[in-house]
Amino acid sequence: MKRNSIVRFAMLAISVGSFALLSSCKGPEGPAGPAGPAGADGADGTDGTPGVAGNAVCMECHNIAKHDAIEAQWAASVHGIGEVAHSRGGSKSCGRCHSDQGFRETQYTGQDTLAAAIGLPQAIQCGTCHDFHQSLDFENEPNYALRTIAPVDLLMFRAADPEADPVTIDLGSESNLCANCHQPRTAPPVADTAGNYKFTSTHYGPHHGPQSTSLAGLGAAEVGTGYPAPGTGSTHATSARCVTCHMHDGEHTWEPNLAACNDAACHNGALTTVSDNTRQLAFATSMATLEAKLTTAGLLLDGHPNPGTYPIDQVKALYNYEWLVDDRSNGVHNFPYLERLLANSIAVF
Ligand code: HEC
Ligand code: HEC
Ligand code: HEC
Ligand code: HEC
Ligand code: HEC
Repeated sequence: MKRNSIVRFAMLAISVGSFALLSSCKGPEGPAGPAGPAGADGADGTDGTPGVAGNAVCMECHNIAKHDAIEAQWAASVHGIGEVAHSRGGSKSCGRCHSDQGFRETQYTGQDTLAAAIGLPQAIQCGTCHDFHQSLDFENEPNYALRTIAPVDLLMFRAADPEADPVTIDLGSESNLCANCHQPRTAPPVADTAGNYKFTSTHYGPHHGPQSTSLAGLGAAEVGTGYPAPGTGSTHATSARCVTCHMHDGEHTWEPNLAACNDAACHNGALTTVSDNTRQLAFATSMATLEAKLTTAGLLLDGHPNPGTYPIDQVKALYNYEWLVDDRSNGVHNFPYLERLLANSIAVF
């Protein structure tokens, strides 16, 4: 260390010495002259690579081609055609699911009072399901500007006992929207003191659209035993949602999409139909068996519930039959739960 600094010092001494020698030959330096004229401008540089447009994330959804495609799909869909909207959308207790105005009213106020006040009930349209964006941070909080994504309190249980705590299902955000309307309205029958049940309507049953409770695997008239616990029985319930199968790639036809079934993580290309698979066909055959038994026992007449008083388990089987007819998936919405329901209902007779 010490040696090193001595050597450096010696070299510095030499160079200072030689500088002193040179300058002593030139004489003292004069003052700096005036600045020369500015030189010509240099050539322009090349443009940098453009950055990503600030609204690029928005344009993935907000472009005219996509909007027009979605609008055309919607216009041809059962939601968009809305024949029922005109005949039932104005009626109290129907409008909350069968019209744009009724659904909005119920979502805003929790009430169902619009009734005759809906001058011209409108079909289900963009603004029925869509509203404001919950967030514009799409990377961390993806959202489709939906009117509601909250878990749904089931109407059938509220109808049966308005004072009881609500029974709630959570199918995952986008599919909770569907569950608001695609749910049963009437709870299963409860036996009178004689072990019977009386119904008075030829439309007795849970009402159209029990798909969300089918998927969740709860709420039907569970005669017999062997039902999977709610939410557990079916891969379609644990790994799929309404939108997985009915809105594949953001499609607004709402028809079940074969490509969704055939996704690599699901049936991986093995299916050729959404309606005629072996298990669905077997389900349809069992449905015909149940229908025949209900007809023989007098609960069905010309395909409709035949009002009267019957043993409770027979009425449960009828209720389940109507549920499965209205579910319209021949078991797909939850094979383990719905097949058990069907088999146990047949076993009543
Ligand atoms: C909780 C929501 C809800 C309420 C309330 C409701 N419906 Fe429905 N209704 C539906 C859904 C969802 C469908 C379609 C289900 C399907 O296609 O599987 C439907 C289907 C129907 C259909 C069959 C339509 C067709 O094209 O075959 C009729 C008829 C009907 N409803 C009448 C009524 C009437 C009348 C009322 C009022 C007394 C009413 N609904 C109340 C949700 C509801
Ligand atoms: C019955 C409810 C419903 C109606 C009616 C509806 N949408 Fe949607 N829309 C949804 C849902 C749910 C999603 C999210 C789908 C998903 O999770 O993939 C969505 C997604 C979208 C997207 C994003 C699609 C994508 O590729 O990511 C656009 C854009 C859109 N809707 C526009 C419209 C327009 C325009 C209309 C009317 C013509 C309309 N929607 C009507 C429920 C609806
Ligand atoms: C994943 C798809 C998607 C993306 C990404 C998206 N939007 Fe939307 N946006 C929708 C849908 C669906 C609607 C409702 C239906 C419609 O109006 O087309 C909507 C509605 C809107 C509306 C009218 C309703 C409201 O919230 O006030 C505005 C404004 C809007 N978006 C702004 C934006 C902006 C700004 C961005 C980017 C920062 C963006 N959106 C990105 C799907 C999207
Ligand atoms: C505002 C209530 C409402 C919402 C929300 C809703 N639906 Fe519907 N949906 C209905 C009604 C009512 C019908 C029957 C309309 C008719 O027959 O006029 C229907 C019909 C359908 C049909 C056609 C049935 C047929 O006859 O072919 C499918 C499929 C469907 N809905 C799926 C969905 C899915 C998936 C979602 C969620 C993304 C959804 N719906 C959201 C009320 C709703
Ligand atoms: C695993 C895929 C899958 C899931 C999840 C699913 N569906 Fe379906 N759904 C189907 C198939 C497949 C059919 C048609 C079966 C047939 O035609 O025999 C169907 C039929 C229907 C129908 C009868 C009209 C039609 O288009 O045939 C309605 C309405 C419906 N589903 C609504 C829903 C709703 C609401 C949800 C969520 C609560 C849901 N589905 C979840 C696959 C699915």
